[in-house]
Amino acid sequence: MNLLQLSTFVFILILTSCGTPDKEEVIDASNVAEVSNVCERVWSEDEIDYHTLSNYMDVYVSHIHLDVEISFDEKKLFGSATHTIENPCNKEIIVFDSRSLDITSITLNDGEEATYEMGVYDELLGESITVHIKEDTKKVKINYSTTNETRALDWLVPAQTAGKQNPFMYTQGQAVLTRTWLPCQDTPGRRITYSAKVKVPNHLMAVMSASNPTVKNESGVYDFEMNQSIPTYLMAIAVGDLAFIDIDERTGVYSEPSMIEACRYEFGDMGKMVDAAEGLYGKYQWERYDVIVLPPSFPFGGMENPRLTFATPTIIAGDRSLTTLVAHELAHSWSGNLVTNSNWNDFWLNEGFTMYFERRIMEELYGKDYVDMLALLGYQDLLASISSLDPKMQMLKLKMKGIDPDEAMTDIAYEKGYSFLRLIDELAGREKFDVFIKDYFTTHKFQTMTTEVFVAYLQENLLEPNSIEFNLNEWVYESGLPENCLVVVSERFNSVEAQLTSFYETNNANSVTPKDWSTHEWLHFIRHFKPETTVDQLAILDDAFHLTQSGNSEIAAIWFEKSVNAGYDKIDVELEAFLMRVGRRKFLQPLYNALAATPEGKQKGLDIYVKARDNYHFVSVSTIDKILGYSPS
Ligand code: BES
Ligand code: ZN
Repeated sequence: MNLLQLSTFVFILILTSCGTPDKEEVIDASNVAEVSNVCERVWSEDEIDYHTLSNYMDVYVSHIHLDVEISFDEKKLFGSATHTIENPCNKEIIVFDSRSLDITSITLNDGEEATYEMGVYDELLGESITVHIKEDTKKVKINYSTTNETRALDWLVPAQTAGKQNPFMYTQGQAVLTRTWLPCQDTPGRRITYSAKVKVPNHLMAVMSASNPTVKNESGVYDFEMNQSIPTYLMAIAVGDLAFIDIDERTGVYSEPSMIEACRYEFGDMGKMVDAAEGLYGKYQWERYDVIVLPPSFPFGGMENPRLTFATPTIIAGDRSLTTLVAHELAHSWSGNLVTNSNWNDFWLNEGFTMYFERRIMEELYGKDYVDMLALLGYQDLLASISSLDPKMQMLKLKMKGIDPDEAMTDIAYEKGYSFLRLIDELAGREKFDVFIKDYFTTHKFQTMTTEVFVAYLQENLLEPNSIEFNLNEWVYESGLPENCLVVVSERFNSVEAQLTSFYETNNANSVTPKDWSTHEWLHFIRHFKPETTVDQLAILDDAFHLTQSGNSEIAAIWFEKSVNAGYDKIDVELEAFLMRVGRRKFLQPLYNALAATPEGKQKGLDIYVKARDNYHFVSVSTIDKILGYSPS
């Protein structure tokens, strides 16, 4: 760095720190709403988002208008993001988040050039953009394009799609990736509305987490509106050769045309799920609820982009057995999208509530026996996480400062969060608990929420009035699993275990009668294989039940994992095909981990990975690179 660069660097540092209240020195003030002058509002430590470089607490964006074009030739999204800003305290700068973007120019209001500085690149948070504004500045327009370092975007060539004829592109924003496809104040601590004009090649269709087209148009230009306020991690776009079908008046599915009929059947209960959810916790606030089934590289099972859940095709099993995922993403329309974690320390407020709500929806549709199976599988995951995770990551309320928020995506937020709420449901009685949860969503709709505010609300509205006392602090602020965690009993699983025991006694596949088993019974069965299970025993089961050829991704994934552990190599062809096709991290991570456990397995894993890596999204690549110690040359 030369002297000029150094002085610019120092100047930018000073500028940036002037605009942002010193995050270390903020004192606690729990009831901020009582401060009448917004400029005197003191943010409590709990509310502060350490995963944004923006000065969102001082000057903030209320609306974003995107005007962008998508070029598949250049693998680039380019255009502008115009931010409508609120500057109640008359600050002189607004700071945005960005990462690996080319910023070409910035203008204020009707076109006046703005001066701005880019901050120093931070490996975790990206680069700040500090824009100088004036008292009359209402709009800040940032002209930009994405680069090939852009992490949120996945550009697929035709061979990576179902139809093999057209390219595809989608974004993944949560947790801190939205800043990599559009410059914004990338924090769940503020909410924005948005509108967009998106130009795509005219044989393709664009959809967003907003009002959506259902047919292609000739021009390839699509307009979108999201009039309900959302955090930026929920901004999303997908572009491809898309078809749409209705499930009922307010629900439907988008997918590539060759898959749309399979989707029509698989998601047939979606309308009933929305009805059940509303019956439980109040009106659905987002008008339509649609799902888009993406190509298999999508790194998650699902992502709750409002109005339009993004989903992996690996849930299309042909028998609706994996659509719990839809109930989950739908439940986020309340927990997460309507009442949003204030920052990533409170991630369990999004996911734990959603697990609880998801299982309530499933109970309405398919009964308690069914949900007991789901809950018991979840409990097994929770125990496994507690025995392997760093105790610092085992609290519901996390301390994620300086850590990638992606690391918070563990069974603690999901299953410990679920168990906590399930316990309160038991202590209070379901009737009272449901009234409480419904009120919680209604009272805090379109707001952000911290763990502390939730706990205070819980004390005041449910626990104290009903004289309920329990080890709440242990549940929320301590690691491990409290002793009063409820353990579900599933009759259906007991029968599965009995059959597995008799298989080990006889080595005869006739001791297993899975004719009426659901996917969940299969999962329980395979999960409970003993570590010393032999290759011959696996072969007996495989011959009888053709598990290696299973078209059910959940069953295949756990079967492959157990087979790798036991050294059963009849799966090799199918395992490679699975790893080449599927990019869902939840499946890839345990499979590559199992392979990496022996030197030969690791080599096998690497040989597949070098071919498959291009088929995976950044989210999965970043995890698997670490498992295999791989660094691209
Ligand atoms: N919001 C999450 C996905 C997510 C979490 C993305 C954190 C990025 C950071 C989504 O709702 C989710 O939980 N998906 C699960 C679904 C499952 C629990 C039914 C998944 O993808 O496995
Ligand atoms: Zn979720």
